[in-house]
Amino acid sequence: MISSEAVPFAKTGGLGDVAGALPLALGRLGHDVTVILPRYRGSEPALASTDRRVVPLGGRPFDVAFLVRPLGENARAVLVDCPELFDREGIYGWGITDHPDNPRRFALLSRAALEYIRDAGVRPSIIHAHDWPTGLAPLYLHTRFREDPLIGGVATVFTIHNLAYQGLYPPEWLPALEVSWDLFTPEGIEFWGRLSLLKAGINFSDVITTVSRRYAKEILTPELGFGFDGVLRRRAADLVGILNGIDEERWNPATDQLVPVRYTADSLEAKADCKRELLRAFGLRAETPDLERPVVAIISRLVDQKGFDFLGQVLDELPRLGATFLLLGSGDPGYETMWRQLAAGYPERVGVHIGFDERLAHLMEAGADMLLMPSRYEPCGLNQMYSLRYGTVPIVRATGGLDDTVRNYSEKSGRGTGFTFEQPSGAALLRALRRALRVYQHKDEWRALQQQGMRQDHSWDASAREYVKVYRRAAARHAAFRPTTAP
Ligand code: ADP
Ligand code: GLC
Repeated sequence: MISSEAVPFAKTGGLGDVAGALPLALGRLGHDVTVILPRYRGSEPALASTDRRVVPLGGRPFDVAFLVRPLGENARAVLVDCPELFDREGIYGWGITDHPDNPRRFALLSRAALEYIRDAGVRPSIIHAHDWPTGLAPLYLHTRFREDPLIGGVATVFTIHNLAYQGLYPPEWLPALEVSWDLFTPEGIEFWGRLSLLKAGINFSDVITTVSRRYAKEILTPELGFGFDGVLRRRAADLVGILNGIDEERWNPATDQLVPVRYTADSLEAKADCKRELLRAFGLRAETPDLERPVVAIISRLVDQKGFDFLGQVLDELPRLGATFLLLGSGDPGYETMWRQLAAGYPERVGVHIGFDERLAHLMEAGADMLLMPSRYEPCGLNQMYSLRYGTVPIVRATGGLDDTVRNYSEKSGRGTGFTFEQPSGAALLRALRRALRVYQHKDEWRALQQQGMRQDHSWDASAREYVKVYRRAAARHAAFRPTTAP
């Protein structure tokens, strides 16, 4: 597996969670998995200079070392240490500016990963790449490594975690990435006059997956295809939606060491202790009646995808709903300011923490009563699944993976696991919030709702088995069309 992020080494969002957890789940099923990612600043110490070697790319030598780290049963990580490209602030960029040499950085990741695999001397059954940063890996397998006796002809799977990030760059980059101009066509890597690393991943892989069934359908439409719907429709027969699981060890309220009190579905009253600690962490009062007021949490990248624009339309209404709102996130400076101002205006009802904080994210899942995720689109979404597990009721827009994982609660039947709404509008969001706050008043009903959510199974096991099916399908297809040259 090749990825730009994987926990516990590097994470900016759900990709890191998935690329860290899926290898473990596959390993538990008895498969042997290596996930290859960069060594970024701070994730692991650099290797001594004697262990280094040269990986050429686009006519330039890069000084590289490979650090092997055990992950779990049958699974390990290999960190590509190339200080010139990766030992700097920020995984993709700094602040809101991307590193200008990202095409080179991530091309080198793909290139170095393939060299590592080849030199390890064991032909893998599958090479699985994730998102635009690793889109060149399948392409390189078709070009530079095509005739390689060990890895030439290995089947490839490419997973789309978010179609909006397309790795678009001016075509002048092609020589530096070692991609021939012949491939600068719509069937290759060209996308409206630019090159797209995402497109390379889609066009050169045997099977393409994305992270929920509903999103797999949505990306075939102009509305959520972000210009790639045509490209994907051409490959619709090879496109599969597999819902992400969650790492049930990392996100388990019964064993979580990052929260003050642990609990299960049968000891939900312990959530009150977490709630008290949570309110204090945000500098809010944590006595009655503040403790009784429902806490609505938001843990998110602050970007348009997550619905902050239409949430912004009704922002001033929030503090008047009778709940406390706590936000943890960072991203678009406009949204950061919007939330800071809200907290300044309503210091008793709104708490804001701008930044990335794993411990606080756990405390919020444990201590909040509800989690709000009003995404415009959501390939899968993980927080709503963490929330279900922690008895924190999700309020989500019915899109992508949110729709596949949260069942709208019916007050009539008492069935459901959260509150969903359809329209991407402030009014629809407020209606869902009000509905949730109404049910919250009925303690027994609310507890039953929490417990229904906690009983859902979102473990990786079932999803990992789906991936295995996809791997087999890719390998079989591949063997049928392109005879391998391997021994
Ligand atoms: P996305 O990958 O689109 O950001 P997901 O819901 O799939 O959305 O995954 C987000 C992951 O990142 C979750 O594990 C969430 O807890 C975490 N996360 C997001 N923002 C923060 C933050 N500010 N601090 C800590 N964790 C965060
Ligand atoms: C992306 C998506 C998110 C998904 C995650 C992991 O970041 O935005 O919905 O859960 O990838 O697949």
